[in-house]
Amino acid sequence: MRTALVTGATSGIGHAFCRELAERGNDLVIVARDRVRLENVSDELRARYSVNVEILAVDLSKRTQLRKVADRLADRDRPVNLLVNNAGFGMSKSFLKGDLADEEAMLDVLCRAVLVLSHTAALSMKERGRGHIINVSSVIGFVPQGTYGAAKAWVTAFTETLAHELEGSGVSATALCPGFTHTEFHERASLDMSRLPQALWLDADWLVRDCLDDVRAGKVISVPGIQYKVIAGVAQIMPNSLLRVLSSRADSLRRRKR
Ligand SMILES: NC(=O)c1ccc[n+]([C@@H]2O[C@H](COP(=O)([O-])OP(=O)(O)OC[C@H]3O[C@@H](n4cnc5c(N)ncnc54)[C@H](OP(=O)(O)O)[C@@H]3O)[C@@H](O)[C@H]2O)c1
Repeated sequence: MRTALVTGATSGIGHAFCRELAERGNDLVIVARDRVRLENVSDELRARYSVNVEILAVDLSKRTQLRKVADRLADRDRPVNLLVNNAGFGMSKSFLKGDLADEEAMLDVLCRAVLVLSHTAALSMKERGRGHIINVSSVIGFVPQGTYGAAKAWVTAFTETLAHELEGSGVSATALCPGFTHTEFHERASLDMSRLPQALWLDADWLVRDCLDDVRAGKVISVPGIQYKVIAGVAQIMPNSLLRVLSSRADSLRRRKR
């Protein structure tokens, strides 16, 4: 049996990772803040897939609590073969209108937790000569779009440099860059998504399977869905100056509609 540790395991993309990995026979270490929801997910996974499930109820924005997850990843007697850094949230307010403490907490969860857990997991996995790290980024990281987009740009760039450093070690790192996906994310961030065209929505279960195929194929960047492959491809070749203009127009249009 193998063990996967998934952060943000109680909802959306993280929950979909847990179901898929459990179905493939992996034991799980599941991480989120809400202990009751963690226990419900644990019961569901044990009953449906007969796997072992450990719970870590932690707030990843708090340094001492994050350390508990890092310590679990460093435990040589109970190796973790796959780390999925997935926990995250967005915010509806722009940088200057929002609260700085919320921005700091977002940065801690989206970036600092990914940095710390990737470091510990990569060292342990490298020692064993095998393992995988998946960092859930976003397609928005290819576009200059708010502090959330900036954090996701960091996650993608960080994962690329990590993958480079791990080359030849038997350990891989993949940045998963989804577009809009049906989860609790938008409701939690009070984002009105009612006008988003149906063709832009992704299904969490589908994108998780697509990502695991990409990991198996050794891809460093996984962009699920043909529509987002096109968007990401165009964004990467477009001059930055034009990208900034288009992005700021889309942003002001979005804010005016709210
Ligand atoms: N949905 C999208 O359209 C979309 C698109 C691109 C990328 N993403 C990324 O996908 C990842 C998963 O998001 P999702 O869409 O699945 O959102 P979601 O349904 O809201 O799930 C978020 C998960 O993260 C956990 N979480 C949030 N803050 C946490 C904290 N401080 N400490 C520990 N756990 C925390 C939540 O559990 P608790 O509240 O119990 O802690 C929950 O399990 C995120 O990194 C997000 O940025 C989402």
